[in-house]
Amino acid sequence: MSEGFVAAFGRSPEVAAKAPGRVNLLGEHTDYNDGFVLPIALPQQTTVSLARAAGRQFTLRSDGFARPLAFTIDALPDEPFGRYVFGCVREVVDAGHDVPALDIHVASELPMGVGLSSSAALEVATLRALRALLALPTDDVRIAQMAQRAEIEHAGVRCGIMDQMASSLADTEHALFLDARSLETRLWSLPDGAAVLVLDSGIPRSLVASAFNQRRSECEEACARLGVASLRDVRRPEQVEALPDPWRRRARHVVTENARVLRAVERNDAGLLGELMNASHASLRDDYEVSIPELDQLVSLLQEHPAVHGAKLTGAGFGGACVAVCHAGRIGEVAREVLGDYRRLGGRGRLLAPPALLA
Ligand code: GLA
Repeated sequence: MSEGFVAAFGRSPEVAAKAPGRVNLLGEHTDYNDGFVLPIALPQQTTVSLARAAGRQFTLRSDGFARPLAFTIDALPDEPFGRYVFGCVREVVDAGHDVPALDIHVASELPMGVGLSSSAALEVATLRALRALLALPTDDVRIAQMAQRAEIEHAGVRCGIMDQMASSLADTEHALFLDARSLETRLWSLPDGAAVLVLDSGIPRSLVASAFNQRRSECEEACARLGVASLRDVRRPEQVEALPDPWRRRARHVVTENARVLRAVERNDAGLLGELMNASHASLRDDYEVSIPELDQLVSLLQEHPAVHGAKLTGAGFGGACVAVCHAGRIGEVAREVLGDYRRLGGRGRLLAPPALLA
């Protein structure tokens, strides 16, 4: 896994580490409200390779960039991609460890900007590589916390911790049931005979950082009006109905979405999971208002297919990908037919996972 580093720097790396992207089955915009989420890791991974360099300058190269990016530990790089790596190095320094100057190479199988957490995979792979290089006493939960801080402090998105926890702790066979308040996790097996399909709507996510931060502030305002520390603490769903809009609808999404995750993990039932995913999409569209017409159309086509249990947008929304849980034996047929119908309606979708179907 070090050919890219050798080609870029003309020597071997000292360490290399990988981390996967994720797709979220249920529990959207609940993590920063101390709630529950159910992501699963994707087969596509990001690899970060490192070696110590002379001097003070960090040099970052990637197969995706023509030119290397250089930075020092004292100044935030302008390039957004560089900020994630810089942020991780800073977190390690701020935790009290010396980090030498480094040559860094990034190779990613994850498409960027479609909602599959390519940034969390980059952060977790960078921190894993730093842990290996410097023999840091850092466990996987701590890696996720440092990765989240790197994104909030240095990339400017006030994200929750789902993506980083999924990249650090999830695998491709089980979903990760996470309590975002206690950070307790439990691996949850997908129902027998069910498989996860991820399709891109072809609409790049736009204004995610500003719209995301705005939703987060609306949730904080809803909490202040309800007199609770977080929306997780709303005991009776009727409580939120007294709020004026938009806080009523934002809070209602979070409260009902938490209940959906808890119901889904009580059983291993594909039909129930699908129903809850469909309800989640409706709530993200109508109450949380993070969908767009193209995502609604692709999700409807998926939901109407007889081999699909349920479908929803995945991640922050505002464009990007949809996730469906389907009959495993018919997943290729679902992808082909739904993408064909979407194209006939004018969309330009594509298959993102499982990558084996692309072969
Ligand atoms: C983004 C954030 C996550 C989470 C999702 C929405 O992926 O990084 O923390 O809030 O949006 O569920």
